[in-house]
Amino acid sequence: MANLLVVHNRKGGAGKTTMSLHLAGGLAMAGLEVCLIDGDPQGNCALGLGLDFGQQTATWLVDGHFAPESVRPHWDLLKSGPAADLWWEHVSLDLLTHRAKDLKDYDWVIVDTAPGDSSLNRALLAWTHALLIPVNLQFYSAAGVANLLTALPAERVLGIVPNFYDLRTSRTREVLASLKPQFPGLLAPRPIRQCVTLERASQEGKLIWEWDPRATAADDYLDLIEWMVTEYGENIAHRATH
Ligand SMILES: Nc1ncnc2c1ncn2[C@@H]1O[C@H](COP(=O)(O)OP(=O)(O)OP(=O)(O)O)[C@@H](O)[C@H]1O
Ligand SMILES: [Mg+2]
Repeated sequence: MANLLVVHNRKGGAGKTTMSLHLAGGLAMAGLEVCLIDGDPQGNCALGLGLDFGQQTATWLVDGHFAPESVRPHWDLLKSGPAADLWWEHVSLDLLTHRAKDLKDYDWVIVDTAPGDSSLNRALLAWTHALLIPVNLQFYSAAGVANLLTALPAERVLGIVPNFYDLRTSRTREVLASLKPQFPGLLAPRPIRQCVTLERASQEGKLIWEWDPRATAADDYLDLIEWMVTEYGENIAHRATH
């Protein structure tokens, strides 16, 4: 059974897509079989890999046609993109559970989500084994994260990952310090640092390890993956109580 991991925060611009791409890419680089599902009609997973939009997520969920695109060795992608039919408002937990048989041969299934609330997001949060929540330390909303956490069984929350950490300013240090007592035991041990090269890499359709392996984000994302895999084992599926 694949490990299901959803990356979500209701706030926009928290770094969900960047995190989804790097988790999927990093696990695939380690030789694990990964499927990345773009659950956001903005279609940014495709853009971040320099690809055109697609509708494989919608076609899979709505019609049951599973046709992922291979984007790197060991790494398949179900793309999304702008669509007129608001399909994401009609996805239920039952439907996801029914479709999950198509994912059984992967080691990891990573799902990028749209900001905000939708039927699809609610179904994904109910379906997933684990959740990672990137939090923008510059535009931080503790209330938003706290609200999100109340909607979830605690054992499903793998971690809150502080993002855009900037050592040069006291502000992000202060925000990070304020998060620790609010979410005991839930913060990832190291934040992802602010790294302009990361944005550039996405514009070029590359992961940070492909564009500039010396960038801080290259280390930070490897650390995050190592923490995730060592802390929770390679099989988080057994933690979840379905
Ligand atoms: N650690 C970082 N340092 C600098 N820039 C970053 C970092 N993480 C992400 N970014 C950039 O911030 C912007 C927003 O990131 P991203 O698109 O991943 O967020 P998102 O949560 O998926 O947004 P949305 O809610 O619109 O889907 C992007 O331009 C991305 O390249
Ligand atoms: Mg996104």
